[in-house]
Amino acid sequence: MMRCLEGKITGFRTGGKRLVMGKETFRVGRRLREALAWEGIVGCRARLWVRGDRLVAVFPLDPPTGPEAALVCMGKSCRRWGAAETAERLERCGLTVRRVKCLDQCGKGPNVCLLPGKVVVNRVQDAPGLA
Ligand code: FES
Repeated sequence: MMRCLEGKITGFRTGGKRLVMGKETFRVGRRLREALAWEGIVGCRARLWVRGDRLVAVFPLDPPTGPEAALVCMGKSCRRWGAAETAERLERCGLTVRRVKCLDQCGKGPNVCLLPGKVVVNRVQDAPGLA
């Protein structure tokens, strides 16, 4: 059965494969993931249509804005997963990048914190729009 929800999108997990709204997470299929300007809709109010835990459609209710800056973790674990290359890619995309010591989410790297929303994105190498 399809549900329609309204709320603020608080983030994405597992490289954009799960969308987080409040306490719920929803699976995002490949086609929808590619269509979403996901970094721009974090923090926006949106209307979601979901079937079970699978996201079927998203309608942003606020005008989405993109991130302005990124804190890229340069801790040992994140460097092993390609944090240096991630930082360079983000700089080439025009983001202001600050390299930081650790974002306390070791093991899910490379990790990036997008500002101003302070949204931490794990496994950024898999995230659409940042890959
Ligand atoms: S090493 Fe990156 S979060 Fe800790």
